Amino acid sequence: MLNFDYSIPTQIFFGKDQIQKLPEQISLYGSRVLLVYGGGSIKKIGLYDKAIALLNEKQLSFWELSGVDPNPRIENVRSGIDLCRNHQIDIILAIGGGSTIDCAKLIAAGFFYKGDPWDLMIGKAQIEKALPLCTILTLAATGSEMDPIAVISNLKTNQKIGMGHPAMVPKFSILDPTYTYSVPRNQTAAGTADIMSHAFEAYFSGIRGAYLQSRLAEAILKTCIQYGPIALEEPENYEARANLMWASSLAINGLLSYGKQRKWSCHPIEHELSAYYDITHGVGLAIITPHWMEYILEDSTVDVFKDYGINVWGLDPMQDAYTIARTAISKTKAFFSSLDLPSTLCSVNIDEEKLELMANAATKHGPLGEFRPINAEDVLQILKSAL
Ligand code: NZQ
Ligand code: ZN
Repeated sequence: MLNFDYSIPTQIFFGKDQIQKLPEQISLYGSRVLLVYGGGSIKKIGLYDKAIALLNEKQLSFWELSGVDPNPRIENVRSGIDLCRNHQIDIILAIGGGSTIDCAKLIAAGFFYKGDPWDLMIGKAQIEKALPLCTILTLAATGSEMDPIAVISNLKTNQKIGMGHPAMVPKFSILDPTYTYSVPRNQTAAGTADIMSHAFEAYFSGIRGAYLQSRLAEAILKTCIQYGPIALEEPENYEARANLMWASSLAINGLLSYGKQRKWSCHPIEHELSAYYDITHGVGLAIITPHWMEYILEDSTVDVFKDYGINVWGLDPMQDAYTIARTAISKTKAFFSSLDLPSTLCSVNIDEEKLELMANAATKHGPLGEFRPINAEDVLQILKSAL
């Protein structure tokens, strides 16, 4: 196990009606609020009205940035920063899924930077501080509610970049599973695949001694396998929505990756698919992951696939390691299909044309992953096998 510094500072208020804590908590950080949300789902479920009533109760002033796009654009961020500067905002409240929260994170950091906020994404400038941010989560998927990462797209340059800074971690997040009852079937499935992918990225690691973290990852994976299908069939099943919601936060808040290297493989590939084709993040992951697994299965990796097959899928430990590994990979693929997630690139209208471009872009900072590092040629082979 490698050395690590533990810090997961986001306070979580989990469960039904925890929104009642909003006024008291938000007042700890400010009184002029920028409310950030997406295309209107929060209005349909009555969450917008509830939040506004609670802000009014404490006589907090608020302004709004609405219409944050899925795969949030840098333009959304620029508009938010303007609003913060024009109205002397001192706290940001993001209500929504990962896109809304990520957009709010870069607004919070970009507020203190004089230049264009895209500079912060591409490393042209560094974040020094950020406005305080709090969130009310409405979709279990990205874990953005409890991590320091923002993923922002620039459609003009075909870039989708993830960047993390401790200043962007939410001060507190309200996690009420009932707000996810209305998440449509396809987004519930994509969210489940995303949570699983965060667990996979930490689990399939070259650092073998972090036994505890690997068992925690298996627990997250089993939770998704148990409750993803239930949430699809019974959208208002509280137990299913609650377990998925908590899994989404724990999968990426650091718990699974402490003591391991944090060098991911499938995510950088998926980000290129979204950058060029604007597809849903979890859908891209569900397509890529089984092909990546098949590609990296070899003598140096088979032991972890064997653990995965036995501990997550309950396969017979007496079988040969490769048999267990291959069965586990086909079960992973079949599970995503059972959630009605697409399994090929063609089915989301991605053909051969840009595969090489995307493979090069995904590896432009060097090989991906440390479990079985993959270069541009490897990524291209994986993408071709997913066609
Ligand atoms: O915009 P609204 O109207 O809210 O609708 C959204 C959107 O259309 C809808 N939705 C959300 N909650 C709902 C709901 N519809 C009905 N009822 C509800 N309760 O769902 C659609 C998708 O929302 P979005 O926020 O885009 O989904 P998600 O949470 O999956 O976020 C995806 C983004 O996060 C990034 C992804 O790359 C992508 O850009 N990621 C962020 C990470 C992070 N910050 O740590 C890590 C992830 O790996 C990921 O890269
Ligand atoms: Zn993800």
